[in-house]
Amino acid sequence: MYYPQEIVDEVLANTDIVDVVSAHVHLKKRGKDYLGLCPFHNEKTPSFNVIPAKNMFYCFGCGAGGSAITFLMKYNNCTFTEALKELADRAQITLPAPNYSEETKKREKHRQDLLAVNKEAATYYYKLLRTRKGMRGMKYFTDRALSPETMKMFGLGFADGARSDLTEHLRKAGFSDELILESDVAVFNEKQGLHDRFFNRVMFPIQDVRGRVIGFGGRVLGDAKPKYINSSDTMIFDKGRNLYALNLARRTKADHLILCEGYMDVIAMHQAGFNQAVASLGTAFTPGQAALLRRYTKRVLLAYDSDGAGVRAALRNIGILRNGGLESSVIDLRPHKDPDEFIKAEGKEAFQARIDNAENSFFYELRMLSQSYRMDDPASRTAFHREVARKLCTFTDEIERENYIAASAEKYFIKTDSLRRLVAQYGNAAGYGQTAGEARRGRPNTQNASKVSPDRSRKLAADRRPDRFVPSGTSDGSLPGDTVGKAAAAGGQRNAAAVPADEKAGRGADPGRRAPAGPTRAQKALWEKQCLLLTWIVDDPAVFAQLSRYLEPQDFDGAVYQRAAGLVWEQMGSGSGTANAASVISAFETEEEQESAASILNMHLEGIEDADDRAKTLRELVYFIKQASLERMTQNGGRQSLQELLSAKQKLQALRTVRFQL
Ligand code: GTP
Ligand code: MN
Repeated sequence: MYYPQEIVDEVLANTDIVDVVSAHVHLKKRGKDYLGLCPFHNEKTPSFNVIPAKNMFYCFGCGAGGSAITFLMKYNNCTFTEALKELADRAQITLPAPNYSEETKKREKHRQDLLAVNKEAATYYYKLLRTRKGMRGMKYFTDRALSPETMKMFGLGFADGARSDLTEHLRKAGFSDELILESDVAVFNEKQGLHDRFFNRVMFPIQDVRGRVIGFGGRVLGDAKPKYINSSDTMIFDKGRNLYALNLARRTKADHLILCEGYMDVIAMHQAGFNQAVASLGTAFTPGQAALLRRYTKRVLLAYDSDGAGVRAALRNIGILRNGGLESSVIDLRPHKDPDEFIKAEGKEAFQARIDNAENSFFYELRMLSQSYRMDDPASRTAFHREVARKLCTFTDEIERENYIAASAEKYFIKTDSLRRLVAQYGNAAGYGQTAGEARRGRPNTQNASKVSPDRSRKLAADRRPDRFVPSGTSDGSLPGDTVGKAAAAGGQRNAAAVPADEKAGRGADPGRRAPAGPTRAQKALWEKQCLLLTWIVDDPAVFAQLSRYLEPQDFDGAVYQRAAGLVWEQMGSGSGTANAASVISAFETEEEQESAASILNMHLEGIEDADDRAKTLRELVYFIKQASLERMTQNGGRQSLQELLSAKQKLQALRTVRFQL
């Protein structure tokens, strides 16, 4: 981060989050807070809260939350610095010059120059399409049933037969030959010198998520080869880390994104109203693109060609999506080849039906697998069952695995018990068939540890978020409320048959650590209590003085919790004697961390009016956290001195009898 925290705090202190949010979201006052429809996921009943007292927002539906900075980062998809700048402008605060190094400044300038060349080229192609010289291109697009609005929305253009018109145009606009060459809209050879890369092609500008043109795809008008030419990768164009039309699709209200193969597919889909469509950029789909998708959705539908190549690509990408922490399903386009042809032939209602009936990718994989076996032959059938069992072993979450075992057994007429035994057998052989008891005792599952991507543990999912403070019965280690049910409800409508209701169990890992087999129930209960306590301190600074003798930030489990606690402690100890939620949140740099911090500080503390009850509950919370901390200390064995251990034990002992005064 380039700005000191004091500046960030000052900007936030002079920002009214209700103002900032209401510029984009319609908010209604409810009590002290404001409520609206969440702009970050699709919902019909509002669960998006803006809490002026804490200068933060929080969505109970999808877990999005944070400060005004987080809101702008998410809404505008911009960086921390950009969001801060916008807020500083609003508050009329002048930011000090950031400490960029000379090197950074030069790189940034160069990027801007390359973007400028691309923008100029896109404008050139765009205009040319709409002149006499562009008539062939216009006819091509019109023949493919694109409307003028669609052409405009995608910035479509045309490169005519002239070999160096664009290059000349760019030179006249003041760009150097080096820059033109580097941006890859022109190429160089001895005979022709610097000349245009694209000619006689309809042009598809490729934009990054923020809508800046970073490269081009160009298609021939007929059947010549190669059908498409794409710009090569440049400093601003990385084909493995961008997706076509994501700048548009990220605004969709759908609860999923659709990944297709071709530019024309994406365009046809958007034109038919499916604005959730994106495509990879003429190269194979990459883990980088999965990570990019994961920033905008949890669920991806594949709309790949129905031919052999399309099936192979789909199977390959299902794995990439899964490793990236995304759920996926496959849209069946048969008997048509691709989404473009499907929509032309059958229309958008029929396409919507295919979306609704998309097949869960695991079952898609099984179905494709089953095609290479003969079910009427016992040996072949057995071999297939073994394959199924092997695949089922890859589900690390027990509940998820069990649900898939049951569903697979039913689909392929296998006895559930037999399949379960087979799975256990393979699981044990491969070393990853943990028993539930082992998992609970936290025995590391090394085989699978590497398979759990950071993305999976990224988000504090809806599954550990009670809406109310449950005063009693919280110390038995169970979660208050029916969290799985809530998580399912929060997930929105989805293909109920295809996705087990418990799919989210175990996904809500602590943002600060990677739990190999997902967090256990006990761990979730602990995190929840940590959230409650931190929220309580922020809401009611008086409790801090009472508990600070017993508890330290190190007592918290999980890196994000420790850091958040550290910040709260620090602020409580400073002059003001209060902690500021927005300031704690903004001390985290990435959007993900900010969201985690926001959810940590956003428990609802309602429901206990009686001071004695409150005091008792506070003591129970502190005791629980301290006890867990002591347990970890003991397990870590020898990393702390005997002195520390004794002191912790004494504090825990004292907590048994202490009476907090509230
Ligand atoms: P239409 O044939 O115009 O409908 O295009 P499409 O987008 O449906 O193309 P297709 O399904 O054949 O290919 C899917 C995607 O693969 C395209 O959008 C391109 O990104 C890429 N692609 C296709 N052909 C080529 C090629 O010859 N070279 C390169 N580099 N990419 C290609
Ligand atoms: Mn096509």
